[in-house]
Amino acid sequence: MRDKSVVVSLVRAGAHASTEQPSSVPVLAGLVEMAVTSENALMAEREGELIERTQQPITVRSLAHDLGALGVKPATTLLVHSSLSSLGWVCGGPAAVILALEHVVGPAGTLVMPTHSSDLSDPARWTSPPVPESWWATIRAEMPPFDPDLTPCRRVGVIAECFRKQQTVRRSWHPQVSFAAWGLRAEEVTRDHSLARFGERSPLAKVYDADGWVLLLGVTHASNTSLHLAEYRAAWPGKRTVRPSAPMMVDGNKRWIDWDDIEIDDHDFATIGDRFAHQSGLQREGLVGQATAMLLPQRPLVDFAVTWMAEHRKAPTSDT
Ligand SMILES: CC(C)(COP(=O)(O)OP(=O)(O)OC[C@H]1O[C@@H](n2cnc3c(N)ncnc32)[C@H](O)[C@@H]1OP(=O)(O)O)[C@@H](O)C(=O)NCCC(=O)NCCS
Repeated sequence: MRDKSVVVSLVRAGAHASTEQPSSVPVLAGLVEMAVTSENALMAEREGELIERTQQPITVRSLAHDLGALGVKPATTLLVHSSLSSLGWVCGGPAAVILALEHVVGPAGTLVMPTHSSDLSDPARWTSPPVPESWWATIRAEMPPFDPDLTPCRRVGVIAECFRKQQTVRRSWHPQVSFAAWGLRAEEVTRDHSLARFGERSPLAKVYDADGWVLLLGVTHASNTSLHLAEYRAAWPGKRTVRPSAPMMVDGNKRWIDWDDIEIDDHDFATIGDRFAHQSGLQREGLVGQATAMLLPQRPLVDFAVTWMAEHRKAPTSDT
């Protein structure tokens, strides 16, 4: 793997040249071009490593076969959390995965993916990473408001980002935790998403009502967002309320909207998912491409998690 510090030192060298030598603009442009070329080389190198650890190209056809073998059925409502790189080298990248999923659930089925945009939030609350306090006012003033057509997804992967851009896909209207849906129930799943992020008027509750399934494609239960629905339904001593805010368009103007919500916490999601799999026997596991995939019915998972949280979650020991 090439050392990224080469790129950094090239850019640093360019910055130095531009402050001390007025004639260095072409030099800087050349250095930036070299840095971009190095970035492209790094990406090619990463893809090369992926190709090296892939026995056969993964295709729409092979993915559809693997999904069927795992137990994904036509006419299912399926909520998908994914990692493209976990599958091995896919011919067609994210588009191929989407085509395979759409093929397997078919026109009577519904696909749902998280299309979250957590950066549309108060910078004072950012922790991974935080930004300097002196930036907060600028960020609050300048952050573009949520636009379901434009706002990119954050940290949910390129498959979800590619999925949301299809013209036949609907995206719910939540500035931070929108979901996109395709197929028979797309309109129903994405309609009327309340500001309370993952509660009774969220796409997660619609998947529950539709007796839908969750597919974890190369990711673990730590990414299993449906467990947030259980957080809204469960009672435990330390459950707290918060007041998130986000930039939205209201009557043609950008405004920061805030709302009452619960404090969400995914620290125990991996444990809950594993316990559910073990105790219920309802989780199917198999390979999709080269990824470990898990397929499970969402309704019993959420019901299990509601009970688990009530029994295991404790009040915080201090109010820090
Ligand atoms: C964070 C996460 C998306 C990272 O997974 P990932 O596989 O590294 O990233 P993506 O799915 O975005 O895929 C991009 C990667 O695919 C790889 N890739 C590129 N072309 C490819 C191809 N043709 N075939 C396969 N992989 C390819 C690249 O290596 C790229 O990684 P790079 O940027 O390091 O080069 C994943 O671990 C995860 O958590 N997914 C679930 C998210 C979620 O739903 N969370 C719950 C809601 S918050």
